[in-house]
Amino acid sequence: MVTCQQSLFLKACRREKTGRTPVWLMRQAGRYMQAYRDIRSKISFMELCKNPELCAEVAITAREIIGADAAILFSDLLLILEPFGFELEYSTKLGPVIMGRIASQDDVDRMPEVAPQESMPFVFDAVRQTRKYLQPEIPLIGFAGAPFTLAAYVLEGGASRTFEKTKHCMRTQPDLWNSLLSKIGRAVTAYLNGQIDAGADAVQLFDSWAGCLTPSEYREHVLPHSQSVLRGLKKTVPVIHFGTGTGGFLKTFREAGGDVIGVDQQVALDRAWHEIGYDTAIQGNLDPELLCGSAGDMRKHVMTILKQAHQRPGHIFNLGHGVLPATPVENVIRLIDLVHELSAMEHEGDR
Ligand code: CP3
Repeated sequence: MVTCQQSLFLKACRREKTGRTPVWLMRQAGRYMQAYRDIRSKISFMELCKNPELCAEVAITAREIIGADAAILFSDLLLILEPFGFELEYSTKLGPVIMGRIASQDDVDRMPEVAPQESMPFVFDAVRQTRKYLQPEIPLIGFAGAPFTLAAYVLEGGASRTFEKTKHCMRTQPDLWNSLLSKIGRAVTAYLNGQIDAGADAVQLFDSWAGCLTPSEYREHVLPHSQSVLRGLKKTVPVIHFGTGTGGFLKTFREAGGDVIGVDQQVALDRAWHEIGYDTAIQGNLDPELLCGSAGDMRKHVMTILKQAHQRPGHIFNLGHGVLPATPVENVIRLIDLVHELSAMEHEGDR
């Protein structure tokens, strides 16, 4: 029997040869799935995230339905903001809303040093429960938001298209900025290490909004904070460092750390891998919208990505960003099958 350590996903994280390309999808558990909507018709999103048994059920069911090579912990990026004293609300219309203002250094100083093991025991329980019921050979991925993306949610009070408040703070109040990102970063480091201790087989750091910055600003104001999180992680499991819109500064993004770099669809996978360097694994990068279109189009783009990966060890197939809520579940199942089938043929032809 294949052990979890010998799974295609963990082998690819370590850049070992695999007979086919492993695949999982960001947001593989979510609203596009009937089983998820059934649970959500009875319980709010926040209650669901704080119920470890249900989190395990959602993560495991989603993985089984689509046949992905890894499961991801069911939780949310923003939950860690609550113990800092920010009220969090998931509105169906507005998306997440974060209440509480950061305007001065005093506001940052008033934020507590968060010890997630004490204030968010439900997350670590969810990791343990999921690991307990998940098939032993299937890896479980834990995750957290990167300091920049979390700080941006705090400063904007929710989602944003322009990130004006975030950029203004970064450019005009560098001391406040650094103390805010450092404080969040310390909590994120402990949060991910806690997930590793609880049984996560890999962890992913999401810097979903890093691409709104200029390359030099990323380097000066963000990289040191991501780097300090990534350097502070236990070396026992692989780390995936994901960002969107990072195509213009992939070398710098990679410098922040990570065994695997997650890229979105705005950069060609072959170009991205060349930039990042072949001593690092890569994850990506199908446009999630292709899952809402024709089977032929999807197949064409999957082939392109697999060709670009060139059967080099260390490619994990994923989307460029999360599964969209309007996605037909049968297309997701078809995608996973297609990646398995086409990549097995590519690797076969290689011999
Ligand atoms: O399968 C999985 O990936 C499950 C776990 C997961 C969720 N959110 C569940 C969720 C993960 C890994 C996330 C990450 C996350 N959350 C990110 C990073 C990835 C990305 O998309 O960039 C971000 C930025 C968030 C913050 C967040 N949470 C937003 C912006 C939203 C609202 C928009 C949306 O897509 O619904 C959420 C809510 C959320 N997180 C849902 C789920 C399943 C939907 C909640 C519902 O049931 O209504």
